[in-house]
Amino acid sequence: MNDNDDELTTFCDSAASLVEGCRLPVRMQGGDDWPLAEIISIKEIRGQRGYYVHYVDFNKRLDEWVGESWLDTRKVQFPRRDGVATGGTTTPKKTHIGSGGGVMPNFISVIAGEPRQLVSRPASPTLGNDSSSLVNGGAVLAAALQKKINRKRKAPSIDNNEEPKQNSKTFQSEPVPSVETEGSETTASGTATPTTRPRQSGSMVAHGHDDLVTRMKNIEMIELGRNRIRPWYFAPYPQEMVNLPCIYICEFCLKYRKSKKCLERHLIKCKLKHPPGNEIYRKGSISFFEIDGRKNKCYAQNLCLLAKLFLDHKTLYYDTDPFLFYVMTEFDARGFHIVGYFSKEKESTEDYNVACILTLPPYQRKGYGKLLIEFSYELSKFEGKTGSPEKPLSDLGLLSYRSYWAQTILDILTHIKPVGDNEKPIITINEICELTSIKKEDVISTLQNLNLINYYKGQYIISVNEETLQQHEKAMETRTLRIDPKCLHWTPKDWSKRAKCV
Ligand code: ACO
Ligand code: ZN
Repeated sequence: MNDNDDELTTFCDSAASLVEGCRLPVRMQGGDDWPLAEIISIKEIRGQRGYYVHYVDFNKRLDEWVGESWLDTRKVQFPRRDGVATGGTTTPKKTHIGSGGGVMPNFISVIAGEPRQLVSRPASPTLGNDSSSLVNGGAVLAAALQKKINRKRKAPSIDNNEEPKQNSKTFQSEPVPSVETEGSETTASGTATPTTRPRQSGSMVAHGHDDLVTRMKNIEMIELGRNRIRPWYFAPYPQEMVNLPCIYICEFCLKYRKSKKCLERHLIKCKLKHPPGNEIYRKGSISFFEIDGRKNKCYAQNLCLLAKLFLDHKTLYYDTDPFLFYVMTEFDARGFHIVGYFSKEKESTEDYNVACILTLPPYQRKGYGKLLIEFSYELSKFEGKTGSPEKPLSDLGLLSYRSYWAQTILDILTHIKPVGDNEKPIITINEICELTSIKKEDVISTLQNLNLINYYKGQYIISVNEETLQQHEKAMETRTLRIDPKCLHWTPKDWSKRAKCV
């Protein structure tokens, strides 16, 4: 028995006593691992309880609905009744505060029976990257439960099938009623509420508040071109979109529809076979289109909405004006199919050359992410600047950037020539920055991560051992997707001057 009256000490022998905020081992994705998870939401439908769980040490994209049989109720940590965390900080009423921030409530452990050997490992970036990996035994139940929740909760949403009337205001995502009529192409949309709130970060998307609605995935599935993709995170699609087993997105203009039929009707009228904007790069089947967030607001908003499904801790803003979007496509007889994109502020006070970056899940882990990154640095080279991605990076973003930085810098180091015959090759960090457009702090952190900086005879030197060189050469052999600067037809614009002209 626990001394503290505020704490629950009930013996937990069944799932019936579980409440939101409880932590317990849960069978993950139908596999053999039972990591610790937190119950985010519980819903009962047709007499069956479903649990939306977040695996404590794992990325949120692995959160899922599970049935009772997936819970190990022999070892449950109950949230404290008063919700008061240590250190005198008051936590919100509900205890669904997770990795996204906030103060974790105090937990007590109630152990029943023999403690099980639990598999516990750090957040693994290798998990959850496969869009199909989220399919599990609880999926059917999940769909039904999601419907119930959606009826109850009003998620903030934007409707972007129409170009917004306002031009240069910042809009925060607000619930927008929108109705799509089966027989018509048009979507009646509500009006986005302009706020005077300034943009909170350089990115099109900023850090979101971590409430229950935005913590849970709200779209079951999307169909985009020939791909069906299971989303990873919440995105503020309009309310009537989140009740469906699948939403259908036009792969060229990115407008979304409720049913396949509606999309087919849209496709008869939609003449686009590529993203809007200018094609500024083409090599083989790969193209890049530059889209101005002010000129193609509807497309830009739809793109951000789609991207939000795979980007965490972000809230959508309506104001796409300050951004350019670089959409990478792959061409075939049917058109230019979107593979991924990155957005970039027209003017960044912090030298960001990428705001958000995404490879759509069906194309991930094939080298397209690094191709997007390489392209972003190529633009910076054309601008004669160094740049860096907007922080924070996601787990996968960090992996990709680290790998890109390492390969790019090692490539420079292996190709510098000594000045004299018996001289050692010499290069300064500033020179590496100039050659690569990688910002100085990223060059230094990469050299440190690779353990290449050594202190020798009173000075810092970079030394690369044979093993690292061999590994690098091997890795470069597999990196076949590369940007060819000769195929980039682009002149940087001075946006500060343009703004003054208007
Ligand atoms: N597990 C382990 N390693 C991975 C994974 C994974 N799931 N995904 C990518 N990597 C590694 C790859 O192995 C590769 O490294 P290597 O060449 O040294 O082996 C590197 O990351 C890049 O791989 P790519 O195939 O080029 O990248 P990909 O096309 O998968 O795209 C990206 C990477 C864009 C981060 C993608 O995972 C994504 O879109 N994620 C969701 C959105 C996101 O997190 N974006 C970044 C947010 S940060 C920002 O916006 C500034
Ligand atoms: Zn379309």
